[in-house]
Amino acid sequence: MDNAEPRALEQAREIVLAARSVFVMTGAGVSAESGVPTFRSPGGFWRNIDPYKVATPEAFAADPAFVWEWYDARRTQLRDVRPNPAHEAIARLEAGKQRFFLLTQNVDDLHEQAGSSKISHIHGKIWEVRCVNEGRVREDRRAPLPQLPPRCPHCGGLERPHVVWFGETIDEPSAETVESFLEAGRIDVVLVIGTESSFGYIQSWAVRARGATGALIEVNPGETALSRRADLRLRGKAGEILPRMM
Ligand code: OAD
Repeated sequence: MDNAEPRALEQAREIVLAARSVFVMTGAGVSAESGVPTFRSPGGFWRNIDPYKVATPEAFAADPAFVWEWYDARRTQLRDVRPNPAHEAIARLEAGKQRFFLLTQNVDDLHEQAGSSKISHIHGKIWEVRCVNEGRVREDRRAPLPQLPPRCPHCGGLERPHVVWFGETIDEPSAETVESFLEAGRIDVVLVIGTESSFGYIQSWAVRARGATGALIEVNPGETALSRRADLRLRGKAGEILPRMM
């Protein structure tokens, strides 16, 4: 059921309106209309650079300056972007619901800029850096950074982006917050927006969150690994669909 049919959009609108408890999962597609490239779509980061050269602990150990140049360029690009109507619609949804949680795979802070507060960044945050010696995390919003790679102000050790790389486990405190939300009670609707859902944990969280009685709604211009398990598939841009749905 695609939202080429207004019927699907209307159905989704009714479900979301009636829901008391809402779980939203977002990926790079939600920031696309703000001008941030995705990873796997045409023009995406992983279409232009091998992720194993910039997004693994091994790449960082081999050449921290090279990895940092890539992240510094991403940070500099993100410095001037603003939330789009999709981020804004999600923030309004949070404000109107008793129980709400947003899991994002995005490392930008566009959801927070739009007003979201019940949020976990399970792949970390690009505006935070972490000392590789002591694990100390600090926010540093300077872009470009004055020195690459940055050094820990406490011990002088190398700092890395506080993001999750390939071969690493997802951010544990964030995952625990998501688990607590899922365990705290029934979820009426799960919205999966702008992600390929290529990771197993994303698919299983979405399906688990829906449970036996909730609805799983996907908002994405294309097919994804999760599409066949969705109850409604709204095919189009999040920034256009979400404001009409909420
Ligand atoms: P992907 O680049 O894999 O997928 C982006 C998704 O967004 C695709 O399904 C697109 O069809 C969809 N999309 C594009 N424009 C859209 C729009 N305007 N509205 C709605 N959807 C749109 O990005 P993710 O699924 O987020 O991880 O990727 C997940 C993770 O893989 C990222 O967090 C990153 C990457 O490797 C790490 O770096 C650890």
